Amino acid sequence: MLRILINKKIEELDNINDLLEQYKYINIDLGTGNGKFVYDLAKKNPNTFYIGIDPTASNLFEYSKKAQKYKIKNIIYIISSIENLNDDLNNLADIVYINFPWGSLLEGIVKDMPEILNKISLLGKSGAEFNFTFAYSSLHEPAEIEKRQLPILSTDYLLSDLTEIYKKANLKIVSCIDLTPPEINVFGTLWSKKLFLGKSRDVFRIISHKI
Ligand SMILES: C[S@@+](CC[C@H](N)C(=O)[O-])C[C@H]1O[C@@H](n2cnc3c(N)ncnc32)[C@H](O)[C@@H]1O
Repeated sequence: MLRILINKKIEELDNINDLLEQYKYINIDLGTGNGKFVYDLAKKNPNTFYIGIDPTASNLFEYSKKAQKYKIKNIIYIISSIENLNDDLNNLADIVYINFPWGSLLEGIVKDMPEILNKISLLGKSGAEFNFTFAYSSLHEPAEIEKRQLPILSTDYLLSDLTEIYKKANLKIVSCIDLTPPEINVFGTLWSKKLFLGKSRDVFRIISHKI
């Protein structure tokens, strides 16, 4: 059973497949925050169904209300962490986005934590794209690096150790880039602005495909 947010209320959804029937593509945004990223995409792409997932319901009130108000049918917000997500969404997504994660979600995509990365990988169909954008550094987040024992980020690390870790979760890393400030600005999400406004810092994007 999935818990979805409708107009500030959490309701239970028996069968998500009923909602998905008429859509060509399904995209998931994991750790969606306030849900703006998928809200904007849903307005632009009516043939794609968007699923935003986050454990904190209150941050999603604004965009969940807007989706109801403007009758945007191709979006839902699911209240869950990746750890607690059941298997209802397995093998559904054409694209899985994770943008500017923190906490265990960040840890799960940059370290060898099969219990998290395997669950993320399960969300995609065979051949699905996994598009992860993230940043941390010893200059800006020393406490988080220490607490979670995060590896030092570099393209070398992503293309060697992390590539091997992803293979074990059936994900083949196909590209790994250091984004430029204009590429970061296009997100327009709360966190892309909060984390990077006025700061020059490395932001990495890994694209992988489900094998
Ligand atoms: C820095 S915010 C980024 C939000 C949004 N993606 C954006 O770009 O504005 C990180 C988000 O990750 C979510 N998160 C943290 N741990 C998570 C987990 N284990 N499973 C799912 N989401 C998680 C948080 O609730 C938070 O909304």
